[in-house]
Amino acid sequence: MNSAAPVMPLPPVAQLPEWLQAELRSNHAGELGAVFIYRGILTVSRDHQLRNFAAEHLHQEEEHMATFDAWLKPSQRSLLLPVWRIAGFMLGALPALIGPAAVFTTIDAVERFVILHYRSQISQLDASGQWGGVTALLRSFCSDEERHQADALRRYPMRRRTTIALIWSSAVSVSSRISVALARRF
Ligand SMILES: [Fe+2]
Ligand SMILES: [Fe+2]
Repeated sequence: MNSAAPVMPLPPVAQLPEWLQAELRSNHAGELGAVFIYRGILTVSRDHQLRNFAAEHLHQEEEHMATFDAWLKPSQRSLLLPVWRIAGFMLGALPALIGPAAVFTTIDAVERFVILHYRSQISQLDASGQWGGVTALLRSFCSDEERHQADALRRYPMRRRTTIALIWSSAVSVSSRISVALARRF
């Protein structure tokens, strides 16, 4: 969480409306997946700069995941957590086998998706005028994800992307969308 993160009490998940519980379930699953993406990179890569990049992001993703871990009871989490662990690990490890550009492309695509995901929840919460503590938390996490995405983009700018990178980026976005839809339900 960034240093400017507001500290406001979080309501019990069970007191929140169904739609928001489903969103939080998908957030927990997504943050778990993110932790495993960076663990996958660190398991495979020996590239010093790439490892520093992954270690720095991993630290924040672990904080995001820990917040949802502490907040959501096991019964309120996705049933598919083993799938999100494996999928996240592969999504980090496979590009890391190819090299830094493949990793930066993947992280840029994943974080770009996560930012839109969080922003959409923040808009819905703002419109509801309720659960200010939840909104503040998501805003704080979203700004961390914005930094992660900007970091990946800076290291592998759009103008240098190959066709394969652009195709891979679209595939990552589509699979992220499918994963979120599944995690909201299961
Ligand atoms: Fe995160
Ligand atoms: Fe992130």
